[in-house]
Amino acid sequence: MLFSQDIGIDLGTSNTLVYAKGKGIIIREPSVVAMDVRETPSRVVAVGAEAKTMIGRTPGSITAERPLKNGVIADYEMTADMLRALIRKAQGNSPFNRTRVMLCIPSGVTEVERRAFHDAARNAGARYVSLIEVPMAAAIGAGLPVSEPVGSMIADIGAGTSEVAVVSLGDVVSSNSVRVGGDDMDEAIIAYIRRKHNLLIGSRTAEDIKIKIGSAYRYDGEAALNIKGRNLVDGLPKNVEITSAEVREAVSDCVNQIVDMICDTLEKTPPELASDILDRGIVLTGGGALLRGIDKLISQVTKMPVRVCKDPLDCVATGTGRCLEKNVLGV
Ligand SMILES: Nc1ncnc2c1ncn2[C@@H]1O[C@H](COP(=O)(O)OP(=O)(O)OP(=O)(O)O)[C@@H](O)[C@H]1O
Ligand SMILES: [Mg+2]
Repeated sequence: MLFSQDIGIDLGTSNTLVYAKGKGIIIREPSVVAMDVRETPSRVVAVGAEAKTMIGRTPGSITAERPLKNGVIADYEMTADMLRALIRKAQGNSPFNRTRVMLCIPSGVTEVERRAFHDAARNAGARYVSLIEVPMAAAIGAGLPVSEPVGSMIADIGAGTSEVAVVSLGDVVSSNSVRVGGDDMDEAIIAYIRRKHNLLIGSRTAEDIKIKIGSAYRYDGEAALNIKGRNLVDGLPKNVEITSAEVREAVSDCVNQIVDMICDTLEKTPPELASDILDRGIVLTGGGALLRGIDKLISQVTKMPVRVCKDPLDCVATGTGRCLEKNVLGV
């Protein structure tokens, strides 16, 4: 007899989470694959956290890269390799040999991109693949009443893409997305520090700065951070002090694009649903929702209540898990 196991995968630009039916979230790994390119076809050396430590430190024969960019598949083979490794890890030593996968994909992707997600999971060994759009999974994960006749607005701010949707009666009424997220904020911080201080920093340092002192709105306890990088003038290491206000200025373009996306969607929302949202507020998910004050800024611009859901990094995977527990896969 063949046993089957159902798993949900939130395949993100920066993090991939796996939810196993009956168990909860069992894997949280950075979306990174390290390959040995001396062999043809290239051989997978490591995936996830182990591969992430290799970024920027690899010898010529090994590359460590992210298979997704802006929420969609940038390298198909690498994506399938990463999914294969994660599915195997989720299977462990269990007798399950037929894994059914529910895969989260961004909304607003083309039919070709959708197909690529489906086929990558099939190639990775899934016997059956169903797709769920990120905003719907996020809304379910945040515990919003998606199947009731009330409008709920959910905005997921990821690493490579941000999406917003109004859901009601189990379906998406209106949605919008921009290919801007936390990664772009890191890039903006790198560009700002380069321009203003003639200092070159890497993306890890930039992310660190964003998490430690970044914000979308003024906050109590603003601080300054001493950072190290390479002086672009003489090529030598140099220290510079960066303030919260500077980081806010650096990320403001990205943040404004996300705010505009939400405003555009509100403008297109039917009046009854808009009044539900005014009562119930907008819920934020995704790692980008952790940027200090982003809820406050969105609330000020839209004049709606805004809250960040509990565990924003897990919310999409949790929502997929709830679908699995309800046996939405059927069979
Ligand atoms: N405390 C924090 N403050 C600001 N940003 C944060 C914080 N913690 C995590 N992030 C950012 O959140 C992003 C990761 O979020 P998440 O895991 O939701 O993205 P993803 O699902 O991989 O990407 P996508 O959904 O765009 O494909 C990264 O850009 C990370 O820097
Ligand atoms: Mg995501």
